[in-house]
Formats: sequence, C-alpha cells, structure tokens
Amino acid sequence: MTQKFIYIKSYGCQMNVYDSNRIKDLFFDKGYKLTDDISKANLTVLNTCHIREKAVEKVYSDIGRINKIKKNNENMKLVVAGCVAQAEGIEIKKRSPSVDFVVGPQSYHKLPDMIHNHKNPINSDFLQNEKFKNLIFNSSKISSEFLSIQEGCDKFCSFCVVPYTRGPEFSRPVTDILIEAKKYVSKGVKEIILLGQNVNAYHGIGLDGKSRDLSYLINKISEIEDVKRIRYMTSHPIDMKDALINAHAENSKLMPFLHLPIQSGSNTILKKMNRKHTVEDYLKIVDKIRNVRPDIAMSSDFIVGYPDETDKDFENTMKFIEKVKFVIAYSFIYSPRPGTPAQHKDNIEKPIKKARLSALQSLLNHQQYLYNKSFLNKKVEVLFEKKGRQDNQFIGRTIYNQSTFINSKEKLLNKILKVKITNSTNFALECQV
Ligand code: SAH
Ligand code: SF4
Ligand code: F3S
Repeated sequence: MTQKFIYIKSYGCQMNVYDSNRIKDLFFDKGYKLTDDISKANLTVLNTCHIREKAVEKVYSDIGRINKIKKNNENMKLVVAGCVAQAEGIEIKKRSPSVDFVVGPQSYHKLPDMIHNHKNPINSDFLQNEKFKNLIFNSSKISSEFLSIQEGCDKFCSFCVVPYTRGPEFSRPVTDILIEAKKYVSKGVKEIILLGQNVNAYHGIGLDGKSRDLSYLINKISEIEDVKRIRYMTSHPIDMKDALINAHAENSKLMPFLHLPIQSGSNTILKKMNRKHTVEDYLKIVDKIRNVRPDIAMSSDFIVGYPDETDKDFENTMKFIEKVKFVIAYSFIYSPRPGTPAQHKDNIEKPIKKARLSALQSLLNHQQYLYNKSFLNKKVEVLFEKKGRQDNQFIGRTIYNQSTFINSKEKLLNKILKVKITNSTNFALECQV
C-alpha cells in the first residue's frame, strides 16, 4: 500500500490546536503520515474558527487556494472541520463544492469512517461524550501539552458564537483526564495546560463519583509526580470561586498566571454584552487572588467598538486597565456574528473603533513592557520548550508565562531552571543560567 499523507491547518484558539492533534492521531492510527506540503496530501483538513468575520474570510480564501492545488491532485480529499464547519456546514458545501467533508468540533472522531466508507459528508452532531471515548491521545510536543477538560458554553454573551459552535457545556470525568495526563508525562511532558472555553466552570465526575470542580481536578493532577506545572484557560469571572483562587496559594504546581477575560471596563457595556458580572465583581476577584498570591500575573481579553460604546465607556475601559495592570492582554474590534443576539447592530464608525483599539493596545503594550522590565537582573524559573531559530538557542516560558530565550551550549530542552534575566522587551525576556 502506498503511504498516505495528511495536511492539517489550525485556526483560532488552543482548543482547536488540541482537536487538530487528536485528528492527526486518528489518522496516524490509520497509517497516515503528516506532511506540510499540500500538493502531497491525500487528506487536507482545515480546522476552522468562527469567532470573528476575519477568521472566516481566511478560511474561504484558503479553500480557494487549495481548489487550484486540488485540480492537479484529484485524489486529495478536502475536509473543513471546526467551528466554521459547525456554523455553516451546508453553506460551505454549496459555496465550495470542492469541499468533500464538513465536520463539527463535537463529531470529528467520525472523520476516518466518513472518509473511508464515504458516509454522510456533513456531520455537526454534538457528541461530546462519544467523541472523547473514541479519540486517541498521543503527545505532540516535548515539554508542554494542551489537555481539553471542558467543552462548550452556556453563558451566551451577546456577541459570541461559541455556545452555538461548540455546543452546551460538557465536562470530562476526572479519571479520563488523569489517564491522559499520565500518558503525556510518561513521554516526558512536564507541563499540562487544561483547556476549556469555560474551563473554570468545570464540573466533571470525581474519583468518588461526585461532581467536582476545577480546584479538585488541579489537585488530583498535581499528585502525578512527573507533572511539574499546571495551567488552565479560559476562565469566566462568574466561575472564579474561592476554592480555585485558594489553589493558587496552596498548590505549588499551579502557575501564578490567570487569563480572565473581562471584555469591557464599562458596566453599561458589560450589561449589553450579557456578561453577567460587573467591573466591581472583577476587581474583587483581582483583590482576592492578589491577597493569596501577590505575584499573580493577570491577563485578559477586550472588545472595542461594541454597539453603543461611548467615549465615556471606552475611557472606563482604559481606567480599568490602568488599575489592574495586566502583564498581557488580547484585544479585538467588535465583529457582528451571524446567529448571535448582537448581530444586527454595529453602529460605531470604523475610524473610531480603530483609534480605540490602537489606544488600548498602546496602554497594554506599555504595561507589558514595564512588567517585563521589572524582571531585569532577577532570577525566575523557566521551562525550556523548544529550540530557537539560531544554533544553541532555546525558548521557554517563565512561571508567569513570559516567553524567554537563552543562548547556551548545554542541552536545555525540557529542563526547568532558575535563570537570571539579562534583557527585556515588551514581548520577550532574555536570560542566562
Ligand atoms: N471563552 C472565553 C473566550 C471566548 S473567544 C471567554 O469567555 O472569555 C476569545 C475572545 O474573542 C473573547 O474573549 C472576546 O474578547 C473575543 N471575541 C469573541 N467574540 C467576538 C466578536 N464577535 N467580536 C470581537 N471579538 C470577539
Ligand atoms: Fe463566548 Fe461568553 Fe461563552 Fe466566553 S463566556 S465562550 S465569550 S459566550
Ligand atoms: Fe474559534 Fe471555535 Fe475556538 S470559534 S476561538 S475555534 S472555540
């Protein structure tokens, strides 16, 4: 039999990266090998993101490009997976007949069967339970591995497609997660990054058969000796319970970094967004967590130009950022999404949106620069995860999640070391052993 090749491209969030790893594992099991050359591929998978309009446009432009390649390689099957597949399944096949299969984020375990037995070309069922039972888990990285513990969302923020693309909230049982984590560390992985669109809403079945929260799960994972670091993302403020906050003080394997999106620093806008929390609620969480873990590094997400956002609302967002001081944050211009409650309104002019985004990003970049600079000549622990572009260069992350590089003749890959920071920019640190 001739060797078959799979090409896969991941768009969007870390959960899609995790899903792409699982799709690869499913096809490796069928004898496929990975290729980064589409023209060689028997199977091309685009694992797509629906979160903003731009993300979707990128997918369609890639499909157009792949169509040309497909003309010279008629045996290649093209699969659109992920959140665009879920949201636009039938439309994709209509718009791009060259797409052979469309499969959503909760049914991609069926892909090998769909392809080899030419079964129904579109599958968008929400089969979370069945999916996880049928996946294969092999580690793909050397030292740090994503592990999805929770799927979907029941929060329905007015702007967001996730509840529709990923489906209702679902938590995996603790036993299954422990088995998967042990598998990764047995291959040398030292850091486990727990993933979920609402990761801190986790409520899986514990070892005792009772429904258990994220702090319980983190404590169980930390009992695995070879797990050295644990992270989790993304959290929602209303699920930031005391037990999880206290875990940051009590569990030394839990890294002092919290990605906690707020979206806006204006209560008026938060209400319109259906976020279910206020700015004050968020500040209370920051106080509580800094009280038990003073060095916690805070990160967030912001949307600017949300419908009806006034200058005053935006000013409040800027003031909020100044108050909290984020070590990093992601910010986006509002993009109206089909099927969401906010879809029909987009009344802030583009130049205003752009100006707000630029002001907000300057402030965030400045905070990140000052934060990184404060590490100069200090010692901090780093896990070296990959080789850099230059010879003898290694790239890792500090306990606070800052990207850090080093030039060293020693083999530092997958080592956790206390290093001295010798240089800093707003996006990275340089260090010496
Ligand atoms: N589950 C996470 C993140 C969801 S998506 C949470 O609850 O925060 C990641 C980020 O994309 C969001 O935090 C938000 O800032 C941004 N985002 C989501 N929908 C968007 C939209 N319609 N327009 C612009 N940004 C959006
Ligand atoms: Fe989207 Fe809101 Fe759910 Fe986050 S909490 S995934 S922003 S609906
Ligand atoms: Fe995008 Fe789906 Fe993730 S919409 S952000 S890939 S959950």
